[in-house]
Amino acid sequence: MTTKAFVIGHPIAHSRSPLIHGTWLAEHGIDGSYEAIDVAPDALPAFFERLRGGEFAGGNVTIPHKEAVFALCDEVDPLALSIGAVNTLIARDGRVTGTNTDYLGFLGNLDQGAPNWSDGSKPAIVLGAGGASRAILVALASRSIPVILLNRTRETADRLAQELDGDITVAPIDAFNDVAPHAGLVVNTTSVGMHGSRFENLDLSRLQLGSLVTDIVYSPLVTPLLADAQKLGLQTVDGLGMLLHQAVPGFAAWFGVTPQVSAQLRARIEATLGH
Ligand code: ATR
Repeated sequence: MTTKAFVIGHPIAHSRSPLIHGTWLAEHGIDGSYEAIDVAPDALPAFFERLRGGEFAGGNVTIPHKEAVFALCDEVDPLALSIGAVNTLIARDGRVTGTNTDYLGFLGNLDQGAPNWSDGSKPAIVLGAGGASRAILVALASRSIPVILLNRTRETADRLAQELDGDITVAPIDAFNDVAPHAGLVVNTTSVGMHGSRFENLDLSRLQLGSLVTDIVYSPLVTPLLADAQKLGLQTVDGLGMLLHQAVPGFAAWFGVTPQVSAQLRARIEATLGH
């Protein structure tokens, strides 16, 4: 029987997930499908009934459903609870489990793009304290890496640091130049970098050579932050790999094969970025 998976969202047309999973299904010759399904918010409960009925092995959840699905899942894993969002559903024996693979995507991307990127001895600077930051903070805590959290709005960062486990110190974004010499990693989790925007007054030359700079923005692939870091000879990893790596655990759970994030897959998705 064909194993079916999906991505649900509203709208859904722009999701790259069907291309990612479709590539892996073909690569492994699996009798399976992965389709994008537009599900409006008021149709979510009925969709979950289909899921419980065994029509699908599971799927991904995207905007605007990442929070709403919490109440519909039979169980949600603790890390997804900390992150505050579910992006992956697994259906088994009439029950639906919600999880979040974004933090694994972040770690998988750095592990592949910059092996030995951290031994945990130097703190990471995380820029931004919004929804995307939560997955990164959970990821860094899982590797026992201390974090210096810098955000434009101080109170948001303070609240996040209190809520999450892990060694998180909050400072204003202006503190970057003072803390940079101690850090081993800089992660941008804000939307700054999209459309070529950039942070003012971040002096990347204050970082030690060998430090790694990464961005979760992947369009453009080389954000101004990454371009500046490259010019200084710092290590960089772009954000596209996080999108690819977050898809791995879902595919493995639904189709029973752990796929690889290959150069060919990357090139295929890169070609859709339109830059
Ligand atoms: P997401 O869920 O994608 O992370 P979000 O919750 O809106 O989006 O969070 C956006 C983050 O980017 C926040 O940390 C925000 O800072 P504030 O808390 O001060 O709003 C940050 N951000 C957005 N635009 C920014 C800018 N121009 N300069 C600095 N930080 C910015």
